[in-house]
Amino acid sequence: MMGASTAAWGGVARSEAASAAEYAYLRQLVFEQSQNVLDASRDYLFETRLSRLLRAHGMTHLEELVQLLKVKRSAPLARSVAEAMTINETSFFRDGRPFELLRTELLPRLIEARRTTRRLRFWSAACSTGQEAYSLAMLLREHFPALDGWDVVIEGTDFCGEVVGRAQSGRYQRIEINRGLRARHIVTYFDHADEEWTVKPELKRMCRFRQANLCASNLPFSETFDVVMLRNVMLYFNQETRKRLLKQVRRLLANDGVLFLGSAEQPTDMTLWTSVLAGGTAHYLPKAMSGSR
Ligand SMILES: C[S@@+](CC[C@H](N)C(=O)[O-])C[C@H]1O[C@@H](n2cnc3c(N)ncnc32)[C@H](O)[C@@H]1O
Repeated sequence: MMGASTAAWGGVARSEAASAAEYAYLRQLVFEQSQNVLDASRDYLFETRLSRLLRAHGMTHLEELVQLLKVKRSAPLARSVAEAMTINETSFFRDGRPFELLRTELLPRLIEARRTTRRLRFWSAACSTGQEAYSLAMLLREHFPALDGWDVVIEGTDFCGEVVGRAQSGRYQRIEINRGLRARHIVTYFDHADEEWTVKPELKRMCRFRQANLCASNLPFSETFDVVMLRNVMLYFNQETRKRLLKQVRRLLANDGVLFLGSAEQPTDMTLWTSVLAGGTAHYLPKAMSGSR
């Protein structure tokens, strides 16, 4: 029931918080859509993160949304709820060490190994607004000019359509540009107008962004990758989901490819991976797979 005390909360009139049952319903819905496990101690986030969605549907209270979903669950609405609950925190060259290790050790080895096919594939899985993919593109252009003329693609995928749209636009605000980029990167790889910095076409051409759920039974790729960055997303999944996902990632990684996880993340099943500590960071090399891929 709505209470008497109403206060502004993220632009939406807020009376009493939603009930425990309503929060539980929303948490379950998010889990079904994106496999993200939300902690009940952070239920307050529903109010702020869903305020825009509520407004767009002419609602003011979470309980109205829950009612609507219960009475007439529309797939797009359920999906929008889950997308709005994703945490999209990212930055250029986040935790620089993986990029440094790629530059000094891993890419020279991979480039040598691909010198006949002249083809390299990167996957920024859970790419958010695209900074990780564009960081890879800058690294390649800045340090590996010999790749000019090679077939190089950086795929970026994310569950949340809004961030994928932003990644595709390649447009960033000052606060985003100031996180992780050196002055020379900004000058060389961005066009600047007013308060917006846009990735130059030569970087954009190297990157392809699309929406994809990492937990779907089939990921939208048929080719294998040489480098997979699966960073800072597994922490939102439970053990079972992580295990399933890493099995899929293993199938999509070349036998001599490289996997990076977030600095607080580890593979669940070490029968698939060899962990290597180098350059102050861990990366994972696939072990030979038994049976068919
Ligand atoms: C914290 S960001 C990490 C971004 C980037 N990988 C990094 O390390 O900076 C987590 C991203 O994972 C995405 N995500 C969450 N669940 C997902 C799923 N099931 N499938 C694909 N992406 C998902 C979110 O939308 C969000 O953009």
